[in-house]
Amino acid sequence: MSPQQIAEYLKQSRSIRGWFWPAAAYLFGLIEDHQHRSGVAGDFFEIGAFHGKSTLLLAHMARNRGQTLGVCDLFGADDEAHALAGGGFYPTFHSNLSDAFDSLDFLRVFIKPSNRLTPTDTTLDCRFFHIDGDHEAESVASDLAVAASAVNERGVVIVDDIYNFAWPGVAEGFFRFMTNQPGELSPIAMGFNKLVLCRPAARALYESLFDDAAAPWRFVPRGPTSLKTLDLCGWKTRVFHVPSYRSPDPLRTTLTMLYQHAPRLSDRVSRLVRYHARAGAAS
Ligand SMILES: C[S@@+](CC[C@H](N)C(=O)[O-])C[C@H]1O[C@@H](n2cnc3c(N)ncnc32)[C@H](O)[C@@H]1O
Repeated sequence: MSPQQIAEYLKQSRSIRGWFWPAAAYLFGLIEDHQHRSGVAGDFFEIGAFHGKSTLLLAHMARNRGQTLGVCDLFGADDEAHALAGGGFYPTFHSNLSDAFDSLDFLRVFIKPSNRLTPTDTTLDCRFFHIDGDHEAESVASDLAVAASAVNERGVVIVDDIYNFAWPGVAEGFFRFMTNQPGELSPIAMGFNKLVLCRPAARALYESLFDDAAAPWRFVPRGPTSLKTLDLCGWKTRVFHVPSYRSPDPLRTTLTMLYQHAPRLSDRVSRLVRYHARAGAAS
């Protein structure tokens, strides 16, 4: 998908509840566009759809390229029968997707826990596999094992919330998978809450995306974001990040620096800021 198509998707998905940052959508677009230009084909799959915010982007990608999209979620229901009878949030997911397309014949939905997915469900020919289901370490490691089997030789696996302090199990699950199944997947890029992995043999394909320093910024909005290269699990990984001196939240950055250098003074400043915020809200 082009950056323009991603922008249209962002408008279309604005009213869908979920957890999918616009910058992450552009990162997905960057990877998918590179795959397409490089002749990488295959299916799309997502574990963890909620109301379908990220699913809608994958749906556009799959349909545009004539591929299938598989989705696995329990949708807050007891089981498949309950979801299909209107339980949980499956009806919301379904209407968000059906509002966007004339036909959903490219979509296959598996209403079950991800640890019950079979190779027939996922196919063994995925080029894009998004993991955003249960965030406990055991589930993340298990979802990564499912994805590692499902993804084809040149596909990618993308993991959500990799370094979100609110979900430490995701990083634990990732490192557990890397220890238990070494050499199956390797980190290639990270940013905007996502970690992108590919097979070691496919690294050159994705490295070439970053050979042209301007290429990522044709998709990813630059703003205060920088790109650096660091080792993760021994693999060279491109890291999209906002340096603290360019933080979009100067007040928080200043308070953090103050706290590190003068904790007592910082407490007083924080109290003052909170007092003025409350006074402002009350007036
Ligand atoms: C963070 S939400 C997904 C957000 C979504 N990708 C978006 O763009 O908004 C996590 C989803 O994972 C689902 N989930 C949790 N545990 C699961 C499991 N074991 N198997 C499949 N789905 C699961 C939840 O029902 C929920 O819809």
